[in-house]
Amino acid sequence: MQYTFDRLREQTTDILASTGLVAAQAVTLTEPKPNIPADVAFPTFQAARASDTPNPAEFARQLAEAASQKIPADSLVGRIEATGPFVNIGVAPTRYAQAVIAEVLEQAEKYGHNDVGYGETLIVEFSSPNIARKMHVGHLRTTIIGNAIRNILQALGYHVIADNHLGDWGTNFGTLLAAHQIWGWPPEMESDPIEALVQIYARFNTAANGDKDKGIAPNPELQDLARDWFRRLEQGDPDARAIWKQLIDITLQEFARTYERLDVKFDVQHGESFYEPLLATVIQEALDKGVAKVEPDGAISVSFDEKMPSFLLRKRDGATLYQTRDVATGIYRWREYTPHRNIYVVGQEQKLHFQQVFETLRRLGYKEIADRSTHISFGPVTNAEGNRFSMRKGNSIFLDEVLDEGLTRAQAVIASKIAEGKTELSPAEQAEVSQIVGIGAIIYNDLYQDPERGIRFDWDKMLAFDGNSAPYIQYTYARCRSILRKAGTTDLTAADYSLLVAPEEQAVVKQLARYPQVVRRAGLEYAPAVVAESVYSIAREFARFYHEQPVLEAPTPKLMLARLGLVEAVSQVLKNGLGLLGIKAPERM
Ligand code: ARG
Repeated sequence: MQYTFDRLREQTTDILASTGLVAAQAVTLTEPKPNIPADVAFPTFQAARASDTPNPAEFARQLAEAASQKIPADSLVGRIEATGPFVNIGVAPTRYAQAVIAEVLEQAEKYGHNDVGYGETLIVEFSSPNIARKMHVGHLRTTIIGNAIRNILQALGYHVIADNHLGDWGTNFGTLLAAHQIWGWPPEMESDPIEALVQIYARFNTAANGDKDKGIAPNPELQDLARDWFRRLEQGDPDARAIWKQLIDITLQEFARTYERLDVKFDVQHGESFYEPLLATVIQEALDKGVAKVEPDGAISVSFDEKMPSFLLRKRDGATLYQTRDVATGIYRWREYTPHRNIYVVGQEQKLHFQQVFETLRRLGYKEIADRSTHISFGPVTNAEGNRFSMRKGNSIFLDEVLDEGLTRAQAVIASKIAEGKTELSPAEQAEVSQIVGIGAIIYNDLYQDPERGIRFDWDKMLAFDGNSAPYIQYTYARCRSILRKAGTTDLTAADYSLLVAPEEQAVVKQLARYPQVVRRAGLEYAPAVVAESVYSIAREFARFYHEQPVLEAPTPKLMLARLGLVEAVSQVLKNGLGLLGIKAPERM
């Protein structure tokens, strides 16, 4: 799909090349610095060197002068000027506004979509919580970031497989099965099953491994029992499998509710257990290829070099590990999907783990999948003061608690807006909008900056109606919708957007025009922040426009119609952009 902004660049290249002073292939266009009043720039250093006029400024002057004469009457290019060694290109405001607004309204919810990824399969693995455990803030981050990356890549035409790599395997399941044998499921399994499982797990652990502080001695019999249950599970014992399956079903039911709140879906949920049947072969392959070796104690390990510590593929008791399953996962994905990219959205603390996994794959001869694998990592979560974020006495912060907190705080904010008479919301709408705003604030706070940086839970800032926050952008959207509602049913077919030449109008038009390119860049860099920054800029430019230029009270009916089209286009792009981030846009606020 070629958007207006792409055509502007293409036309620019054609015009510059038509002077005969520079070849089309030699024209590399850049974005002008923010203080330069231009839309596209051509730095001439290289082209000058290859020409008869080696001085870049002189070359730029000649090129700009010649190119100015070559602008076709219907071009999106309006002016071409030299500033030092740069040729700066400005749009033709009337034609640009007309083309951009018409395009946004025509493409509507598809505006920003593209087919650049057509025919390529990408795996985006995210969320990946553990069965019988609660999701914590780290899982919140991977879920939010992964979902946005998935949405963006999908909008670019890629065939995306969203995979939830559940932690559903490991010796801890032996512990749970043993606990179940002794105590059965506790009654709390009805009301709060995961909490009940966490409790019973801890209880068994203490009984089996002891607790010095509490004067409890280890109990080898219980330890054996847990080990035995895991062995039975591994060997496919039907009883063990049945109870284990129950644990998965119960946990997934709980997770489903959380995913619904966040509006996140997966295409596959291949847990770690899914790869279990492949592990023996993988370990054998590693031994055969000399990638791994048997240690004196019977463990099987892979050694790298001084820079990377070695890791185990098999413990001395024969048990496989988390990393063994990740190596198998890589091989499986390669064979099953042959993806163009294999993306993992997982916290920073697992950086080394993924380096080891990718390096092992490479040594095993799966160079392609190793080269195509990317670990998108993210930083920790802190409170407003930058300290470890904790919401209750314990030291874990659970995902659902965060969503609840966001909701409660959003409700309070909305309630106070209603008390101040600053919203249009009916009590019935209040609940739904609070939900949208609370969740939106949490998502946006996670996505507006580079994920490597930690995020702060500064609720006041996150829920502010002004500033770089979801509520600000959502509010801008609702405001657009309100203007359009007040205007009544408007037929925009006759609207003439070439009237939108005021500086504030042009500024909005230009932000909208760049949006499709923003989505492409966000996809290329796996960077939702690029989209976040664009929707924020659109909202800000809209505020400036709306402050300066009346819409419903525009000086002429024709101008009103054109501005209504602009408002419609802004609302459309805000909705699209927020949608890619996983944030909903309320019609009223
Ligand atoms: N289940 C792990 C956790 O909660 C994350 C899994 C990440 N994905 C992977 N392929 N290792 O920490």
